[in-house]
Amino acid sequence: MSLLPKNPNECPTLILAPMEGVGDRAFRKAMASVGGFNQATTEFIRVPTNAHIPSLSKFYDPLETAPIPLAAQLMGVDPDLMAEMAIELERKGAPRIDLNCGCPSGTVTGKGAGSGLLKEPTLLNKIARAMVMAVSIPVSLKMRSGYEDTSLFKENLLAAEESGVKFITLHPRTKVEGYGPPANWDLIAEAKSILKIPLVGNGDILTVDHALNMLKHTKCDALMIGRGSIINPFIFHEIQAHFSGTAHKASKEGLLTYLNTFISGLPEGMPERGKVNKMKQLMGFLFKANASLLEKRQQMLQLGHLSLDDFLNLALPLYKDALR
Ligand SMILES: Cc1cc2nc3c(=O)[nH]c(=O)nc-3n(C[C@H](O)[C@H](O)[C@H](O)COP(=O)(O)O)c2cc1C
Repeated sequence: MSLLPKNPNECPTLILAPMEGVGDRAFRKAMASVGGFNQATTEFIRVPTNAHIPSLSKFYDPLETAPIPLAAQLMGVDPDLMAEMAIELERKGAPRIDLNCGCPSGTVTGKGAGSGLLKEPTLLNKIARAMVMAVSIPVSLKMRSGYEDTSLFKENLLAAEESGVKFITLHPRTKVEGYGPPANWDLIAEAKSILKIPLVGNGDILTVDHALNMLKHTKCDALMIGRGSIINPFIFHEIQAHFSGTAHKASKEGLLTYLNTFISGLPEGMPERGKVNKMKQLMGFLFKANASLLEKRQQMLQLGHLSLDDFLNLALPLYKDALR
């Protein structure tokens, strides 16, 4: 069976992107309460060369987004340890393991991991292959288009494919580009023409139109969305609704469920002030969805020392105009 089956009405598989920091457990749970996407991926779990595998895997919970499957993403350079970690996560119930070949952070790439692997297609292949051989669940790989430039783009794609991974997700920016220039969707189209295995397109999908344009321009098999979902948690439903010829209306109830699930997913024992700050960060993105809300976003961010309830009572009315 395809790992990226179509939704009804030919809507492609939709995947919530891994986002370390912002897209944490609380966010993923909140997104799962809204739904509309078919799969999610954890932020990277770093596997250092001195990793103690059982302690590393204890934070992974396959049921976090249930019933939506949650893949576990690994980042590291040691093929044996990466394979060991993949086995441990398979034992914990992971439906899929993803290899991170995209993280641009200097501390990570300095050790050769993340996007650092894009400088060494042979090592990339070796690590992915070790993971593929170690587990019976599917392994996938997420990559940028290159490290400094795209000179090894094709080589990296083929090295990934040859390892036996079941699909590749491409975020078409180099490590050096960071998040600066627009994602180069031409490279997704190029990758699609090179690969035999399925390709997930990713990068700069903020609206339904962007999603449709990416599909048309690149012919990719599925879509992954990161920042677009923080700005608009209903984006996946909106895309699905487009394919079924309907319109999705974001409801106040849906938004409240999203925010309440986010709050209850925050770490136990987090001080009230920390929770308010996390909520401000999350709502700060929501207000960005609509240019007319930018002034109100400032008001929301400036709300001072309040309990979480008081904060929500003041912040939600500022946002309500955005709800149809
Ligand atoms: C805050 C943040 C954290 C990220 N963390 C990860 C990560 O842990 N693993 C990964 O593969 N990509 C990570 N990414 C990259 C995203 O998954 C995605 O490839 C990128 O944001 C482009 O997609 P978008 O335009 O839909 O956000 C991160 C991106 C952001 C903005």
